[in-house]
Amino acid sequence: MQHASPASSGATLPPLRRLAGTGKLLDGRVGIVTGASHGIGEAAATAMADAGATVVLAARNEHALEEVAARIDATRRRASVVATDVTDPSAVERLVKETTARYGRLDVAFNNAGDGHAPVPLADLRVEDFDRTVATNARGVFLSMKYEIPAILSRGGGSIVNMTSTAGLEGVSGIAGYAAGKHAVVGLTRVAALDYAGAGVRVNAVAPGPILSERIAAEEVRRRVASGVPIGRIGEREEVAGVVVWLLSDLASFVTGTVVTVDGGMTSGVRVVRPPDTPVATPRTSDQQARGRSR
Ligand SMILES: NC(=O)c1ccc[n+]([C@@H]2O[C@H](COP(=O)([O-])OP(=O)(O)OC[C@H]3O[C@@H](n4cnc5c(N)ncnc54)[C@H](OP(=O)(O)O)[C@@H]3O)[C@@H](O)[C@H]2O)c1
Repeated sequence: MQHASPASSGATLPPLRRLAGTGKLLDGRVGIVTGASHGIGEAAATAMADAGATVVLAARNEHALEEVAARIDATRRRASVVATDVTDPSAVERLVKETTARYGRLDVAFNNAGDGHAPVPLADLRVEDFDRTVATNARGVFLSMKYEIPAILSRGGGSIVNMTSTAGLEGVSGIAGYAAGKHAVVGLTRVAALDYAGAGVRVNAVAPGPILSERIAAEEVRRRVASGVPIGRIGEREEVAGVVVWLLSDLASFVTGTVVTVDGGMTSGVRVVRPPDTPVATPRTSDQQARGRSR
């Protein structure tokens, strides 16, 4: 299942786990995170701040952004808020201007804001749902980079990560508008990487598979979604955040124009159904995986 339906299951998410080991990877950097009022954007903004960055949080819901900023940094010196609709050029231009006015620079950005639509066969997709989804995902990433890149260039370079999805890499039935928007993000990422590779701006994308969100937090939905993931479980917001911090940091200094999948193996290929007596590895539970990680 992709990020496509706005319907919430009503279940709540566990509190964010703070990532250990990112040290000072983004020490002294100033970054923008769009779509930072919830979910993966909040997790990434938190991880970027924990890695030493000062973060400017953008989304439409200013109240939710203020709450996230306060959770990241109660003193509010290293996390601030600019209410922004990423589909509006003047709002995105203002976001970048306010960032550089407040902190004197922009080094990194995670263009994560996105929106989906309820799954329907293509001919039943309402034109306004197609337009809204493509505008948020594709126009939003275009506008973000359009205004971020000159600011990053003026400080000699930096790194951008755009949010796509496994639905930006392959077709997923029922979500034509979302898939179109996310495929466009891949194209925008590759072109921007080529346009600015020689000028010191790296541009990459992350493509998550199903990541735990309120939409899929209910136990029975989780089980159904996890059954389609080779690793055998849904991903966590923090597992996307860690990849974003790595791509934004100098550890990824020779990485540009690429899309990093964070999907538990979903886009690796075809899982062949074999006769029952064929030896195969059985997926581990998330508890077993957590025990394996801590070894
Ligand atoms: N969760 C998944 O399984 C999954 C998988 C693959 C990719 N993704 C992508 O990951 C990103 C984050 O998803 P999520 O699961 O964390 O969803 P989420 O919790 O619904 O977060 C979406 C964020 O985007 C913001 N946003 C939406 N429209 C906007 C607009 N016009 N201008 C500014 N901000 C806007 C929302 O804030 P406001 O409503 O306050 O504006 C919110 O902060 C999205 O791009 C999504 O497509 C998610």
